[in-house]
Amino acid sequence: MKVLKFAAFALLFVLISDVSADGKTRKHKKYRRPRPQPTESSAEVAQNEPKLSESLPPMAAGLDMIDNRVPVTDPCLDVQCGAGMVCELDKEGEAQCVCIASCPEETESRRKVCSNLNETWPSDCAVYQQRCLCRNNDPKCKGDKYKHIHIEYYGTCREMPECKTSEMADFPRRMRDWLFNVMRDLADRRELSPHYLEMEKDAESNMTRRWTNAAIWKFCDLDGHPPDRFVSRHELFPIRAPLMALEHCISPFLNSCDTDDDHKITIKEWAKCLELDEDDIEDKCDDLASAEAE
Ligand SMILES: *[C@@H]1O[C@H](CO)[C@@H](O)[C@H](O)[C@H]1NC(C)=O
Ligand SMILES: *[C@@H]1O[C@H](CO)[C@@H](O)[C@H](O)[C@H]1NC(C)=O
Repeated sequence: MKVLKFAAFALLFVLISDVSADGKTRKHKKYRRPRPQPTESSAEVAQNEPKLSESLPPMAAGLDMIDNRVPVTDPCLDVQCGAGMVCELDKEGEAQCVCIASCPEETESRRKVCSNLNETWPSDCAVYQQRCLCRNNDPKCKGDKYKHIHIEYYGTCREMPECKTSEMADFPRRMRDWLFNVMRDLADRRELSPHYLEMEKDAESNMTRRWTNAAIWKFCDLDGHPPDRFVSRHELFPIRAPLMALEHCISPFLNSCDTDDDHKITIKEWAKCLELDEDDIEDKCDDLASAEAE
């Protein structure tokens, strides 16, 4: 049972890092939130993409016919709105992001998500729509607390087993091992940038660097939105949300990383919670890779 769980976790990890390691998916990094589940990412993109027919209000459409100075290209084409929002043209014909009017009807229960308020929502769209409405003081907002609503994990809300002290004590070691295994796997598949491939090779020859290099690589990988050498709670989303269901210690573990409780994890804090020697950790993020992805 334990082995199976480990395997599932490792596989998930591979899938997740796989997606985030792919520079191409980060094109619009400014406005796009991290992709949670690889299998659902395409549907999600389609959901966030502004639709031409819907974004042209009748006024602007009418203007287009009588005044040919109105640009034919939709200003919304270049705009990426945040989660729960779509692009629309305002009265002046300027692109603006507004709360999505209605989310696609979800009948599939696997689309359900559990929010940080421990409430099950039909889809991630529904969660972000509600947050958008509340932030815009829309009457459809169900209460102030939804201003900061976010997805805690995928699936319906359920009772999470408590992370026992003994499990928590063992967690940093398991996490280090997983990180290295994921890194090695990506290296085998030639899916690391040359910079990280070099770090992986280095890691193979030295047990200390095996863990430190993997930790540095994952830190840099998470710190992509934006790459500011801090991993925010938001940037932890790609590990937290999918793993919650499998590893009930992941949340307490990640919380423990933020020792000064400023909602940001530095590379030193990351090293510390993985129980690595801070002195062995240096900032070796691949600036080239993030530049390429711009
Ligand atoms: C969250 O909701 C589930 C299902 O309603 C419940 O079983 C669980 O105890 C709740 N968890 C917390 C922390 O309140
Ligand atoms: C392994 O790497 C660490 C940290 O870089 C270094 O201090 C140590 O001497 C290395 N050990 C070996 C056997 O090379």
